Amino acid sequence: MKGIILAGGAGSRLYPLTLVASKQLQPVYDKPMVYYPLTTLIESGVREFCLISTPHDLPRFQQLLGDGSAFGVRIEYREQARPAGIAQAFLIADTFIGNDSVTLILGDNIFYGGDTFARAFADFTAGATIFGYHVNDPERYGVVEFDAQGRAVSIEEKPKQPRSNYAVPGLYLYDNEVVAIARALKPSPRGELEITDVNNVYLRRGAMRVCRLARGFAWLDAGTSSSLHEASAYVQTIEKRQGIKVGCPEEAAFRRGFLTLPALAAAIGRMPHCEYRDYLEGVVTEARRLGHGQP
Ligand code: TTP
Repeated sequence: MKGIILAGGAGSRLYPLTLVASKQLQPVYDKPMVYYPLTTLIESGVREFCLISTPHDLPRFQQLLGDGSAFGVRIEYREQARPAGIAQAFLIADTFIGNDSVTLILGDNIFYGGDTFARAFADFTAGATIFGYHVNDPERYGVVEFDAQGRAVSIEEKPKQPRSNYAVPGLYLYDNEVVAIARALKPSPRGELEITDVNNVYLRRGAMRVCRLARGFAWLDAGTSSSLHEASAYVQTIEKRQGIKVGCPEEAAFRRGFLTLPALAAAIGRMPHCEYRDYLEGVVTEARRLGHGQP
């Protein structure tokens, strides 16, 4: 499955932070925001990526992530001239997608906990899979309504009167049909190609699966100054308590088998001395102690 990281947009709610660096490059505790969605997809087994951002910001992402080899993956880059909707990503990346299925993750979505994603990716064969997450303020998102049997019956974009508290997070899995569906979309009244319209096509076709994310799962929003700060505090709390990093793509790539132990050690060797490097050295030491990978 191919992976799109959509990291454009205006980031106007984070002004003036976003005057120079885009939202998805802002720090979330100890690493740039885009490391988190990149890690989520690596953990799910995605190895080929297309990162989409604005013409202004794209060079910064290229500088940060390169061709992906430091993470054992391949990353291509495409421009979105203006934020004309999440579903436009499938048109921008159509030649990257080719004949494959594709997952799209928003560059400002931070997920932590559980194995729901790993299972959803492993189980995916056709149609679409999206997720539902219980939130306090569903009117800000796409909202899923479920019937008594727990089946999704409607998905509404930013409804004034939400029919449930289940918002759709920015991680979606689609079969190759998504490109044709996106191509046939008309812009919404706000001038965007809406991802909710794509999801409703799958829902009407009976080809949509909505997995509810369990209570223990964290989906963090980092779109405003205070939610960005809260996301940092959350990550810091988990990392300090557990001694593990959230959103560390090198570690995820190693655990997934995308980076061998020598390749991970080589990547670490290129880092300056810092806490991030110390952490990864600990991962290598532990793996050697357990006899994983080559010496
Ligand atoms: P939003 O949070 O709706 O928008 P934004 O990031 O531009 O922020 P603001 O409202 O403060 O101006 O977008 C959600 C995510 O989707 C965000 O990571 C940006 C991304 N996005 C694009 O990359 N292209 C698009 O056309 C749209 C609509 C969103």
